[in-house]
Amino acid sequence: MKVGIIGGTGFVGSYIIDALLEAGHVPRVLVRPGSEGKLVQAERCESVAGDVSSPVALERCLQGADAVIYLIGILREFPARGITFEDSQYNGVERTVAAAQKQGVKHFVLMSANGVKPGGTRYQDSKYRAEACVKASGLEWTIFRPSVIFGDPRGKMEFCTQLQHELVKPPIPAPLFFAGLNVTQAGKFHMAPVHVKDVATAFVTALVNPSANGQTYTLCGPDALSWKAIIQTLAEASGRSGKLMLPAPADIIKLVAGVLDGHAWFPITRDQIVMLLEGNTCRDMSAWAALQIQPQAFALKNLGYLRE
Ligand SMILES: NC(=O)c1ccc[n+]([C@@H]2O[C@H](COP(=O)([O-])OP(=O)(O)OC[C@H]3O[C@@H](n4cnc5c(N)ncnc54)[C@H](OP(=O)(O)O)[C@@H]3O)[C@@H](O)[C@H]2O)c1
Repeated sequence: MKVGIIGGTGFVGSYIIDALLEAGHVPRVLVRPGSEGKLVQAERCESVAGDVSSPVALERCLQGADAVIYLIGILREFPARGITFEDSQYNGVERTVAAAQKQGVKHFVLMSANGVKPGGTRYQDSKYRAEACVKASGLEWTIFRPSVIFGDPRGKMEFCTQLQHELVKPPIPAPLFFAGLNVTQAGKFHMAPVHVKDVATAFVTALVNPSANGQTYTLCGPDALSWKAIIQTLAEASGRSGKLMLPAPADIIKLVAGVLDGHAWFPITRDQIVMLLEGNTCRDMSAWAALQIQPQAFALKNLGYLRE
């Protein structure tokens, strides 16, 4: 099967390409100028140069493809440089749907995120509307909504390496966020990190499993852990057990982030704090059985890449 990939030079995309090749498929990847070196197994992939803003590049990428996987997403906007949630996570999907329709691509697989909703943060709202766009396309579709994704980022940053870098390594206590004045709840919100290889297997399985057509799958790891337990695990995996942690009022940090989060050096955005406090766990774990995958645990044995 020939599979167009939009956003294949990133962290998750690299594992999806590995899984596609392993299953005998041919990835055709849209690669932005300057990102050629980020493409894994480049000699085994077809690549098309271009940006998601270009309908011509998208059509070239999808010509003759049986399916398309859309992965582009951002965590922070830089409107002055034209980098917005609306453009990356909604307009890009709309353009890719149009290119897929024109090229007769059968199946659209969309990377969304757990917790997307209308009227949520701009990240959540743009992804929610992108889901609606794919569902209304008339194409076969499958949507994935993963929790935070972990796994060796191969020189990039993912959930764990970012927390290790910003919260575990610095010689200051790690923050246990709490909403309002609810200090007894500090660090008690839960997340269920999911392994990147399980996410990649899910995407590739969905391509060949007819029952995945018309499904929205949430993908969470087998364990829901509190923020505090996650930081403790990351500290242990980094050889820094006993890391000091202190309650941190989210409202004050949100105020500061609201002023500074247009700067890449500020570690967290206002919306990221909002989404952290919402938690990131799945009520529905049926995707794993449907796709016959046994998800890996967020445990030291799978966090060896954090060892210093
Ligand atoms: N990582 C997580 O914990 C997590 C959790 C839930 C959902 N997701 C979703 O999963 C998806 C992939 O995440 P990731 O962690 O792999 O992100 P990533 O490493 O930042 O990769 C993003 C990809 O999008 C590409 N891209 C961005 N803007 C583009 C543009 N204008 N034109 C063409 N390509 C563009 C990037 O290309 P370049 O290489 O050229 O920059 C890269 O290939 C996102 O939609 C994200 O929201 C991620």
